[in-house]
Amino acid sequence: MDEIQQQVGAVSYAPAPPEEFCGRREELEQLSALLSRAGEDGQAVMISGPPGIGKSSLLSRLAYEVQERPGGRQSPVLRAEVFDLPGMIFSAFRELLNDLRRRSASARFGSILGAESMREALRYADNVFGNYAAPVEPVGLLPKAGEEIIGVFARTPEVGYDRVYQAFEELLRELGRAVSMTGHVAAVLLDDVHLASSHDRRLLRDLVRDLPPGILLAFTCRTGDGAGSGYATMQEEIRELGIHEVHLAGMRRSEIRELAERRFGVSIDDAAAGFLEERAGDPFSLMTCFNALRSWGLAPSRENVADVIAERDGPAKLAFSTLPEPVKAWAENLCILNPPFPVPVMACMLDLQEAGVAPTTDRLLESGVFQRLPGGEYAFAHPLLQEHCRHGLSKETAVALNARAADCFERSIHRLPGRLYALLSLAGHLFDAREYGKAADLNLEIALRFHHRDDHDTALMLTERAIVSAEHLGDDALLSAAERQRDLIRQRASGPLTAGR
Ligand SMILES: Nc1ncnc2c1ncn2[C@@H]1O[C@H](COP(=O)(O)OP(=O)(O)O)[C@@H](O)[C@H]1O
Ligand SMILES: [Mg+2]
Repeated sequence: MDEIQQQVGAVSYAPAPPEEFCGRREELEQLSALLSRAGEDGQAVMISGPPGIGKSSLLSRLAYEVQERPGGRQSPVLRAEVFDLPGMIFSAFRELLNDLRRRSASARFGSILGAESMREALRYADNVFGNYAAPVEPVGLLPKAGEEIIGVFARTPEVGYDRVYQAFEELLRELGRAVSMTGHVAAVLLDDVHLASSHDRRLLRDLVRDLPPGILLAFTCRTGDGAGSGYATMQEEIRELGIHEVHLAGMRRSEIRELAERRFGVSIDDAAAGFLEERAGDPFSLMTCFNALRSWGLAPSRENVADVIAERDGPAKLAFSTLPEPVKAWAENLCILNPPFPVPVMACMLDLQEAGVAPTTDRLLESGVFQRLPGGEYAFAHPLLQEHCRHGLSKETAVALNARAADCFERSIHRLPGRLYALLSLAGHLFDAREYGKAADLNLEIALRFHHRDDHDTALMLTERAIVSAEHLGDDALLSAAERQRDLIRQRASGPLTAGR
């Protein structure tokens, strides 16, 4: 009998669940050694490697080692992820804060983290983050002149970067103190810092410079995007600070066999494993290969493996080629959104009525190509899948989908909790939909707000959009206003930092 059973659904392309994590023993040992040192002296480590190599999975496994493993440390873990929308001021750090709040209120860690001093540090940091972001983060979004959406911003006391740094540093110190007193260590995990804005990177850099005892801060950073990428900048910065780097490379033969066995229930011979080690040793490629073999009912022989890999150009394409048609179409409709996708926007993009939402999201998850995030939003299971989908769109389709997305955001804006996310998404979709009239105003206005917050990268990117829009509109007055703003930002960006440190 053929040892392969055809199965519905694929093994998900999301980070590996810790119980299915394979190999990487040396890397885990390095992390474990750092963890042991962190009690005395706070430690930071960067986990780096190309997309699909297993950085997020290693982070999940580390979280399991620290918090869950029976006989392990049973210590608290805070985790957040940086997403690809520039300008989300300190959102990953605020997510860490929320995670800490949840832990300190939990039955499990309440006795360690629930002290009044911790609550006070949490309240203070929350307040400072909120006040710092207030000039950029709208308290509400209103239709202007009936159709155009604008932000409504609160007047709050001016809070500079220094206060943010001090508040977060004090919070980590308090956390380190609380865990150390009970013989624990806290792990603070940040995924995908190559996507962080210069602002967020600055906070990260300042924090790792002097981590308090009791804290291990581990973050992942994607390599391979060339000079000027987040990694190039990060690497330079961490070298200066003497931070450890755990660099992930492709899986070895034995690890590949373990992955096939544990995640797909198939045993592969040495010839097939050796071939994969040479040709497709990164875990993402391995996942696409084994899912394809499973979906087509092929035994994992060296020949079949070679055929499957050769037939498609690139692992992401291979992953899509095994999907049912409706899932492919849904993926195409969603790929221009910025993750995490809020459910109302997703439903609108897929034109679903309320009753259709749950069955559709179930099928998306079952396909292995989407994941549900802890906050209830959705995302592609791996960024390579979303990137592949985006690259495959024709210009016209991309414009049409962005127009739909802008419309969906305008319609559901009152139901979305993340107002900055909504505003920035809208500004991007309007521009990419070539709705230059609306795009120019909105991008120019929020750019100025980012400029006042010294987030020059985001301010410049938004202002450039306003310039292009003004050119398309042939609006000379708007164009010269936008160009003036760009020059001003460039000038400030090249000057000394204004907000301390
Ligand atoms: N050590 C591992 N064991 C089992 N599966 C893994 C392992 N590392 C990665 N994977 C799988 O490979 C794919 C890519 O891994 P991921 O952690 O998302 O990579 P990265 O974060 O570097 O892009 C995912 O589908 C994940 O489940
Ligand atoms: Mg990842």
